[in-house]
Amino acid sequence: MARRKLVAGNWKMNGSRAALAELDAIAAAAKSAKGVDVAMAVPFTLIAPAAERVPGLAIGAEDVHDRDSGAHTGCVSAGMVKEAGASFTIVGHSERRADQGETSQDAWAKAAAAHRSGLHVILCCGETEAERNAGRAERVVQAQIEKSVPDNADGSWFTLAYEPRWAIGTGRTPTVEDIASIHAIARAKLRMLIGDAADEVRILYGGSVTGENAATLLAVENVDGALVGGASLTAEKFVPIIEAAARL
Ligand code: PGA
Repeated sequence: MARRKLVAGNWKMNGSRAALAELDAIAAAAKSAKGVDVAMAVPFTLIAPAAERVPGLAIGAEDVHDRDSGAHTGCVSAGMVKEAGASFTIVGHSERRADQGETSQDAWAKAAAAHRSGLHVILCCGETEAERNAGRAERVVQAQIEKSVPDNADGSWFTLAYEPRWAIGTGRTPTVEDIASIHAIARAKLRMLIGDAADEVRILYGGSVTGENAATLLAVENVDGALVGGASLTAEKFVPIIEAAARL
């Protein structure tokens, strides 16, 4: 089945109001790439000014809390980012798993909270290098999906991103065969959990995607787009990825 490609950026803890100027050319490229959805996750403080600056581009958060409100100092809820202008959020990113000790259960609760608030969700999974070397990549990803994907997930609000941790920010990527294998396994696992709705859920690949390798990576079966960190920080690097997706 044909799924629209999604090219999503993630600024992580980078950017400033001045850097929002990069979004002008990104929004223009997104507008001309008719068959492609484009989205950009930015730090909480930049959501409102980004959403105001480029109303045509989907702006999102990089994380949300799993509660709607309450005594959680320093945290931000899904409703808050929605009010600021976000239309989606990433949850379960491997940097949050590594730095904040987040688990797949946390990602599940955050995905549910984001859905309650009307946000689209990009939920991340992916093995470490040690897990891959031990031959456990497939089992790790299957277990993460089983624990983190909500029962009511469907393509209208839910996207999965496979991001092997060792490929993030390293300039290394898995082989296309390995990506195809994990994406097929991820799709099969989704089908077990949510039935036919799995066919409409996009599965992104993430980890060192660039303008140079995007055409190859995006052409892999069951790869429905990319989640891009470093190469999303400037229009010069991000626009070629959007264009590669549009050419497929
Ligand atoms: P990268 O990050 O593109 O810089 O490897 C990807 C991600 O963390 O989503």
